Amino acid sequence: MSAQIILNGEPENMVKTEAAVIRLDNVHKTYDLGEVQVHALRGVSLEIHASEFVAVMGASGSGKSTLMNILGCLDRPTRGHYYLDGMEVSQLSKVELARIRNRKLGFVFQQFNLLSRTSALENVELPTIYAGIRPEERERRAKDALARVGLADRAHHYPSQLSGGQQQRVAIARALVNHPAILLADEPTGNLDSRTAVEIMDILQRLNEEGSLTVVLVTHEQDIAQFAKRALEFRDGKLRRDEAISKRLLAREVLPTLPSLEEDQAEENMDAR
Ligand SMILES: Nc1ncnc2c1ncn2[C@@H]1O[C@H](COP(=O)(O)OP(=O)(O)OP(=O)(O)O)[C@@H](O)[C@H]1O
Ligand SMILES: [Mg+2]
Repeated sequence: MSAQIILNGEPENMVKTEAAVIRLDNVHKTYDLGEVQVHALRGVSLEIHASEFVAVMGASGSGKSTLMNILGCLDRPTRGHYYLDGMEVSQLSKVELARIRNRKLGFVFQQFNLLSRTSALENVELPTIYAGIRPEERERRAKDALARVGLADRAHHYPSQLSGGQQQRVAIARALVNHPAILLADEPTGNLDSRTAVEIMDILQRLNEEGSLTVVLVTHEQDIAQFAKRALEFRDGKLRRDEAISKRLLAREVLPTLPSLEEDQAEENMDAR
């Protein structure tokens, strides 16, 4: 499904494959623990294009987080090449990787990783400080990012004053504040009840569609993967399956069919009797 573009002014037969935002070429990752070596990734090659929404699946220990750490420039491959936006990043220094990370990538984790003594707004602002954005601009951007996840009215709440779903939305806003091209999410719905999980998928789907954000999301759950456009499955550090999601779900269509939290609790109370 690689999109093809014809270069302006080139002869008609000169077609260039549109560059992938992510390209891995035979990537290996070995953790050296002295006595033992753990081969977490064993020769992974793949391409992800702009505006894709990819679910990364596989059993515990199959290499999903290792892959995400490499995609996110938090770690480097032991062997092989990683091209991010056409640029080979596998051999860059830690400082260079940190700069690229801040400019191009947003991260969301299972634990929301918010600073607890800091308001939602300040949590979201933090990456803009590292990016050297002017102070006046920072607050505007942070407010804008909170509005994009539907939390404009919670800017001055502390994490402890927010529900799990709201905390994850703050974390998504924080990931968006520097306008990344790619959002990397490792089990972002892992700590949430099923309705809240679908609400988070709704936000990710909207960002993917409206903002053309590229999303790569790790999940254990087939139900959650159904909201993506493409699924990758890892086993023992290898990519074993790579296919389009055939019956893709739209979170905004699923949400009205789910019981609200209150209805859920009422049902549980009935069952307990
Ligand atoms: N920092 C590390 N040092 C040594 N071994 C590691 C390290 N990180 C991961 N591993 C090993 O690499 C393999 C892949 O781990 P990884 O965390 O990528 O799995 P995963 O698919 O994310 O699993 P889970 O679903 O449980 O999160 C595992 O065998 C793990 O024990
Ligand atoms: Mg993991």
